[in-house]
Amino acid sequence: MSRAQNFLLGLAATVALLPYVHSATISSTPAQTFLGIGGSGAWWPNDLFQFPESVRQNLSSLLFSQSGLGLSSYRYNVGSGGVGVSNPTRAPETFYVAPGQYDFTKDAAGVYFLTQASNFGVPDLTMFANSAPAPLTVDGTSCNSQFQDGTGDAYGTFLADVTQQFRDQGILINLISAMNEPDNSFGPTPCGQEGMLVEPTQRAEVVTGLWNALDARGLTNDVGILADESSQLSFATSEYPSWLPEVIDKVHALVHHTYDFPSDSSYSSYASNVKSQFSGKQTWMSEICCTMGEADGSGKGYSQGYDPTITNALLFSGLVFQSLVLAGEPHYDFWTLVSKEIGCDPSQDIGCAADPNNNGWNDGVIYYDPNFATNGNHELYVKKQFWTYKHFANFLKPGTQRLPISGSDSTTNSMLAASNSSPIVVIAMNTGSTDSTLSLTFPEDVCATSGFRTSASEDFTNIPAATGGGSDWSLNLAGLSLNSYLFDRSACR
Ligand SMILES: *[C@@H]1O[C@H](CO)[C@@H](O)[C@H](O)[C@H]1NC(C)=O
Repeated sequence: MSRAQNFLLGLAATVALLPYVHSATISSTPAQTFLGIGGSGAWWPNDLFQFPESVRQNLSSLLFSQSGLGLSSYRYNVGSGGVGVSNPTRAPETFYVAPGQYDFTKDAAGVYFLTQASNFGVPDLTMFANSAPAPLTVDGTSCNSQFQDGTGDAYGTFLADVTQQFRDQGILINLISAMNEPDNSFGPTPCGQEGMLVEPTQRAEVVTGLWNALDARGLTNDVGILADESSQLSFATSEYPSWLPEVIDKVHALVHHTYDFPSDSSYSSYASNVKSQFSGKQTWMSEICCTMGEADGSGKGYSQGYDPTITNALLFSGLVFQSLVLAGEPHYDFWTLVSKEIGCDPSQDIGCAADPNNNGWNDGVIYYDPNFATNGNHELYVKKQFWTYKHFANFLKPGTQRLPISGSDSTTNSMLAASNSSPIVVIAMNTGSTDSTLSLTFPEDVCATSGFRTSASEDFTNIPAATGGGSDWSLNLAGLSLNSYLFDRSACR
């Protein structure tokens, strides 16, 4: 299929990723080619659409421009109508009226931010659904219900028609996920969000219905089907056999969440299982959030709590490294990007957004006041994780290739190679509290040009370039920091 990756042609960079090591070597043989780094538009668009236009513009720029995160992937949540959902923010409107009949004036909030992503040139636009439109489900609701056998064609027709409508306006949705966390109906009613149970044995019908509808519109080369967004890697592994073999040729990539916070060995065995059973099929990381714990990842696990500091930012960076380096996945999405689960009242206590608390949730990288509608506080609160995620999203553009790194730490790997004129970036973190030095050997002569660091006191701040010469360089890794060091692919003059 033709993917919207050409916007960066000619700018492809060479990237290396690695955790904390003292000495390592970059390979000249590339591993995977990166496809996207992003997150989801659920459910904050419903709130942020009510903010002043200047703030909506600022938020769009913080998410989608290179001076902000520079995301290359955005997941638009196509609503089911919110029937049965008690939390109005989490009840997106649906375009569905009746078979073949739509109201495209609905969901103005979601469409606004999808349009922003498109206008900023975000190349991967996924449309994902937590539930089919309520009238199509077993109970006629948007949650606590189940996929109705026999509705695959009707549901696929809805998704394909909506996609066609956006594409006709130049909003080039190129990926569709029809069942986000099909293992959960999010009941009982009243529910906290939309959700539709799709039994493993029903999932092939969902994929086939969507494929047929895309095929009828000539869209199968331009729009890929993602499935099945299992909430846990362990579900994905055990459930693939009951639906995937039947539709493997219709699925563009296998996407999963990691709410079981898999160990390195579980994640590796998932990746190698897929490789042996479904050879040639990529796996993508499409959703994660919500853990407290230490910078090195100890103590991680799904839990409540808000930590806006470098500790949690490095913990989440470690999860990105795990997916991109350990599992070799080419596409990574964090969950909601923007959240009101700040766990404190920033209108009363101005500094509270910068302090950890146990009442919020780590589901965003930018936060807003949950009481904005009554107190008029339209401030955006940027968490440290925003700045660490920027390293990945700014530098791992679609088309860049990872170059594996080997060294004293076995989990060090990665890199991307493109044209000779392209830079190499090394993204490296230090989860210890003391400074260290990484001695890095490149496969050719390079020249260090610049560096960027995020730490407790720095937000993607310019730092001195690496020191050295030829193919041997030293990178300073300050305690509790994430660093990006840039190199030109030729000797210094
Ligand atoms: C955008 O929001 C950020 C975060 O609150 C703030 O620092 C910045 O000044 C804002 N920019 C504009 C142009 O409003």
